[in-house]
Amino acid sequence: MRYLTFALGKGRLAKKTMELFEQIGITCEEMKDKDTRKLIFVNEELKLRFFLAKGPDVPTYVEYGAADIGVVGKDTILEEDRKIYEVLDLDYGKCRMCVCGPHEAREVLKHHEMIRVATKYPRIAKDYFYNKKHQTIEMIKLNGSIELAPIVGLSDVIVDIVETGSTLRENGLEVLEEICPLSARMVVNPVSMRMEHERIQELITKLREVVLS
Ligand code: PRP
Repeated sequence: MRYLTFALGKGRLAKKTMELFEQIGITCEEMKDKDTRKLIFVNEELKLRFFLAKGPDVPTYVEYGAADIGVVGKDTILEEDRKIYEVLDLDYGKCRMCVCGPHEAREVLKHHEMIRVATKYPRIAKDYFYNKKHQTIEMIKLNGSIELAPIVGLSDVIVDIVETGSTLRENGLEVLEEICPLSARMVVNPVSMRMEHERIQELITKLREVVLS
């Protein structure tokens, strides 16, 4: 039996994912050591390997088959647009992709004026404004702390993730339009899906049962 390799998005998602896997009997003791600098963790018995990667890199590893399976946010799946199968909504890491800004920006959005949009997600923002709203925008790509942009006058609005809404509230911003709901998803390499169909399908079925219970 060959190893099945999992790429997990680093951080909160990875912890939640391992908790979920434990519920179906998949454990990885090596991974629990907080001080480890190891990059890859193995469960010899079940012939599984796990590694942690930056979220946006997870779909890349899965598309190229360096990982058979990945767990990553829907935001990253949409933004990366890789040739991978999305097979299961894991129902955690729930949040929303939104257009946000100061209250005054509501008017500007209504009139389809040319606006500046700052975001870490240019593909999602372009798809929303160009294809759904038919509005031309100027896109400004940022890498984090996106909420700063409208506050310091870099952009009119932002396209960003809203979870609790507290970052917006504490900075005098609000949700202006909702683009889509987000959550953690399991993704699979199309070739792995064919070659290891039985093992992967069994995993999906077991996980789905836990997620739905
Ligand atoms: C995300 C997102 C928002 C914040 C939303 O940022 O970009 O800034 O969380 O959460 P809230 O609605 O619960 O306040 P993250 O912490 O991932 O860092 P980033 O700003 O570097 O993207």
